[in-house]
Amino acid sequence: MSQPSVKVENVWVRFRPYIDRRPTLRRSLATFRHKETQLVEALKGVSFDVQKGEAFGVVGQNGAGKSTLLRVMARTLRPDEGRVVVRGRMSTLLQLGVGFNAQLSGSRNIYLGGLVAGLTKEQVDERYDEIVEYSELGEAIYRPMKTYSSGMFSRLAFAVAMHLDPEILLLDEVLAVGDEGFKQKSKATMHELLGRSGSIVYVSHAVKQLADFCDRAMWLKDGEVVAIGEAGAVVDEYRAFVQHRRKELRAQGLA
Ligand SMILES: Nc1ncnc2c1ncn2[C@@H]1O[C@H](COP(=O)(O)OP(=O)(O)O)[C@@H](O)[C@H]1O
Ligand SMILES: [Mg+2]
Repeated sequence: MSQPSVKVENVWVRFRPYIDRRPTLRRSLATFRHKETQLVEALKGVSFDVQKGEAFGVVGQNGAGKSTLLRVMARTLRPDEGRVVVRGRMSTLLQLGVGFNAQLSGSRNIYLGGLVAGLTKEQVDERYDEIVEYSELGEAIYRPMKTYSSGMFSRLAFAVAMHLDPEILLLDEVLAVGDEGFKQKSKATMHELLGRSGSIVYVSHAVKQLADFCDRAMWLKDGEVVAIGEAGAVVDEYRAFVQHRRKELRAQGLA
């Protein structure tokens, strides 16, 4: 039996905005007007495995808990309950350019990204040319990243992430941007990763693409797992729900 590369067990995440902060008059008033100290349960007992060689998709509406889940898996957020077991080197593209400094050039950011991920300067040196070539940024690599379009940003972020030799790749809404050519190339690179028993966890609003690319998928709703299974089937179920919901809202004159 194959071992999972990621195992998520009964994970709960609760956000208590502002609860640790010293009260000020403004905050007391805000509390008085309710909301500010309200507890947000972003994940409510989520469990699943991602197998080696598997592309696993996560779908769900805004606020369902998808990004929170990826942050827990990337260990940038500790769950309040439950646990996450990761077997393998993980690379993450959680939000476009997290870990990048937009004031610096793309070139400097390759080093920054590599060092943050735990590579030595020599290791980044070795991969530098390949990363630049992969990103297709040409001379723009010497310009500050704040001048980059979102497509350029994501190309560099993806190029860096893929050259860190990940065994597990977490992607949050990143590949929807970029031109068709780059999308094809990044897909091919991800298939290579899967081919050598790597795993990919992929969150996207583009559910059709997700259904095509992923083996299995999970539907999250209000922090809870509604379905886990073959990607096409889960996405169909999710889309049917979204359409039904839209009709309901329209009937109520809300959409
Ligand atoms: N740092 C935070 N502080 C407070 N609430 C948060 C924080 N991050 C996320 N949330 C809340 O948790 C819920 C899930 O958010 P998120 O994981 O971003 O959903 P998704 O990525 O599916 O849109 C939402 O209600 C969101 O407002
Ligand atoms: Mg999100």
